[in-house]
Amino acid sequence: MQIPVPTWFVGCGNMAGAMIDGWRMAGVDLSNAVAIRPSGTPVEGVTTVKSVKDAGAAPAMIILGFKPQQLDDVVPDLLPWITSKTIIVSLLAGVEAESLRRRFKKGIIVRAVPNLPVSVRRGVVALYADAIDEATRKAVGDLFAALGYAMWTDGEAALAGIGSVAGAGPAYVARFIAALAKAGEDQGLPAATAATIAQETVLGTAWMAAAAGMPMDELARRVASPNGTTEAGLSVLDRLDALNGLVTRTIDAARRRGAELAAEARGEQVA
Ligand SMILES: NC(=O)c1ccc[n+]([C@@H]2O[C@H](COP(=O)([O-])OP(=O)(O)OC[C@H]3O[C@@H](n4cnc5c(N)ncnc54)[C@H](OP(=O)(O)O)[C@@H]3O)[C@@H](O)[C@H]2O)c1
Repeated sequence: MQIPVPTWFVGCGNMAGAMIDGWRMAGVDLSNAVAIRPSGTPVEGVTTVKSVKDAGAAPAMIILGFKPQQLDDVVPDLLPWITSKTIIVSLLAGVEAESLRRRFKKGIIVRAVPNLPVSVRRGVVALYADAIDEATRKAVGDLFAALGYAMWTDGEAALAGIGSVAGAGPAYVARFIAALAKAGEDQGLPAATAATIAQETVLGTAWMAAAAGMPMDELARRVASPNGTTEAGLSVLDRLDALNGLVTRTIDAARRRGAELAAEARGEQVA
């Protein structure tokens, strides 16, 4: 598979770097990709430059991989390079297609909401485009499908929900694994052992559920025999719906921040 030639990664930190890792793992030809980042920190296997003026030939695709707050600093340098055919893929959390369209005027705008496991091709990527031809939609969809579970959403509104669950989700899962590991340490296990078994337990559980198509309630039931040890543990986790309440509040906070970023990109004052 070939990434459009050339593709510019404008901003290439954690997320764009993870996508590059995933595409490299998938055997995607990245020889014509250029990473543009002010630090010039090299990106393995990809030509890396510090600014747009050193990027070379006009891009067929641009991936916006900087922070949403930097949009207005970066756009002016990109505008001279954009034609009606340039594919502009924005990773910017919360920044709506309309806000991008207002700034770029030309180009095919795609919003992508990925998560970090794209680096190992087990990511979730939600895609949305307000106006895109079939061939471009297929090409972009195929490229992201190489990074894991990729889906086009019918409406842009779905991106916020997917972003707050899947985009941010690896951070929450990481916290849960760390808590499981700490509990293991509290039980007297060496730190390294506790960390490894916590991680492998979460990985194995998700893997098994995915392979068997097993609902989570059913999975929990299979572990917990009546009046046994796991059931004693679950009675704490489930008390007063504590975990559900905590996760709901966590996701709501991410949603609210996404709405603030969207408002900032629309030029609205955020309190
Ligand atoms: N991280 C996630 O899990 C995640 C999930 C979904 C969406 N996103 C979105 O992905 C985007 C990037 O997030 P990230 O976590 O990858 O951030 P990051 O690691 O901080 O990377 C930001 C990148 O932007 C570059 N940059 C800074 N100023 C720039 C400029 N003026 N012109 C061009 N590039 C510039 C930085 O350059 P240097 O490398 O030289 O410092 C860096 O490469 C954000 O918009 C975020 O909303 C992230």
